[in-house]
Amino acid sequence: MSRIKTICCIGAGYVGGPTMAVIAAQCPHIKVLVVDMNEDRIRAWNEEDLSKLPVYEPGLDNVVTQARGRNLFFSTDIDGAIDEADMIFTAVNTPTKTYGEGAGMAADLKYVELCARQIAKVAKNDKIVVEKSTLPVRTAEALKSILTNTGNGVKFQILSNPEFLAEGTAIEDLDAPDRVLVGGDISTIEGREAVQELVDIYAHWVPREKIVTTNLWSSELSKLTANAFLAQRISSINAMSEICEVTGADVEEVGKAIGKDSRIGGKFLKASVGFGGSCFQKDILNLVYIAKSYGLSEVAEYWHQVVKMNDYQKRRFARNIVKTLYNTVNDKKIAFLGWAFKKDTNDTRESAAIYVADLLLNEHAQISVYDPKVPAEKMYTDLDYLNTRTEKENRALLHCADSVYDAVKDAHAVVLLTEWDEFRELDWNKVYGSMMKPAFLFEGRNILDKEALTQIGFVCYFLGKSNLV
Ligand code: UDX
Ligand code: UDX
Repeated sequence: MSRIKTICCIGAGYVGGPTMAVIAAQCPHIKVLVVDMNEDRIRAWNEEDLSKLPVYEPGLDNVVTQARGRNLFFSTDIDGAIDEADMIFTAVNTPTKTYGEGAGMAADLKYVELCARQIAKVAKNDKIVVEKSTLPVRTAEALKSILTNTGNGVKFQILSNPEFLAEGTAIEDLDAPDRVLVGGDISTIEGREAVQELVDIYAHWVPREKIVTTNLWSSELSKLTANAFLAQRISSINAMSEICEVTGADVEEVGKAIGKDSRIGGKFLKASVGFGGSCFQKDILNLVYIAKSYGLSEVAEYWHQVVKMNDYQKRRFARNIVKTLYNTVNDKKIAFLGWAFKKDTNDTRESAAIYVADLLLNEHAQISVYDPKVPAEKMYTDLDYLNTRTEKENRALLHCADSVYDAVKDAHAVVLLTEWDEFRELDWNKVYGSMMKPAFLFEGRNILDKEALTQIGFVCYFLGKSNLV
């Protein structure tokens, strides 16, 4: 019989919020407390109007409706939740360090350490602490040291339970994961018991054979490895996209052809303007840093290339826009369709759109963006963060449009950056009619029909296709 009655999660972000909502919905007998130091975020999680939840994920509103107020609670009372919980998840952010040793590479573990210290200070009885945030290998060791040296005799077991959900499909991924990974100190009885407690929670809805248990270090490293492999596939197909463009091959056909090989598999072979999101770049840079810190320079360089290729793809795409528009975009209106890093999310972290915009703004373009889920303020914050120009200049040069048709009116070019479904169904004749001529179209996601658009009159550039016009 499980002794876990209450769990808490510190960090109510894209990972903590949806993950805990699904655990609460699947395990009505467990009380789930989600806490965060950010009051605005917690207020938003408690919103009656579910369209105002801080994270947009298809299906999340249903899960929250089912469990919130029953056994799912959001608050800022971090100490209270730590005290009450038998098991504590940490899902705080671990951004790339921006200062000191490892700046631009290593993960900043400041928030994780703060969490550990707070847990150690508050805990009065034995707890299981679960790393949910993606962390460098052997972080558990540091956590253990902080917890046992600061705590007042309380015993802690540390588990690693990395989250593999992808944004936009988070609820599906949590409801039916490919696998759940639980790492723990399996060399001791207490460690094995702690692992079992967490396995039992997941076993309420995940088939046992999909729950993999490992030692702590394998679990921590597997998360970084999974993200590195996924990102590597995208950089590989993106590298092929440029070869396709110069040889007359079609990257979609190549992707389909190789994906039929069961050893390769068909997923994550879509060429794009570059991968974004909060994880891929951060985790690979972290892996590179770890490899370097062990003196493994070839290994580090191998993985670093995945990020370099991604940066190149974004730059190449932006440069091609300038080159095609007769080598100048000065004062020209360019319409962006999409700002989010992928469809079905309001998340913009590391979105390729930000970097393409930045390069075009350097060339004094006027950009008008339409994204169905991203508000203007977020676009400006993303650009300001790069520090390329003043906040005032960013606001003068970039405009957030209310609709596609507002964005494309009198534009010299339309640039598709996020694969939102609604862009497939646009009235492209109407778009063409309201643009300057020649009407250029740059497709960074390959979701549109090149032939049909060319027929309408667009001058098209599609990634990874023959663009001889
Ligand atoms: C984060 C990490 O970025 C990722 O590496 C990890 O795999 C899971 O957790 P995400 O949920 O997307 O992913 O981050 P974010 O949306 O930034 O949420 C983190 C939350 O933690 C924020 O709401 C922040 O306010 C909160 N937080 C941070 C605390 O409550 N306390 C802290 O000390 C630090
Ligand atoms: C990723 C991992 O998939 C997930 O397992 C992990 O927990 C967190 O990091 P996420 O970043 O949410 O999830 O989204 P993902 O679907 O992996 O897409 C990442 C980026 O790659 C997006 O910008 C997406 O558009 C791009 N991508 C994905 C491609 O360019 N081509 C592809 O074939 C697939």
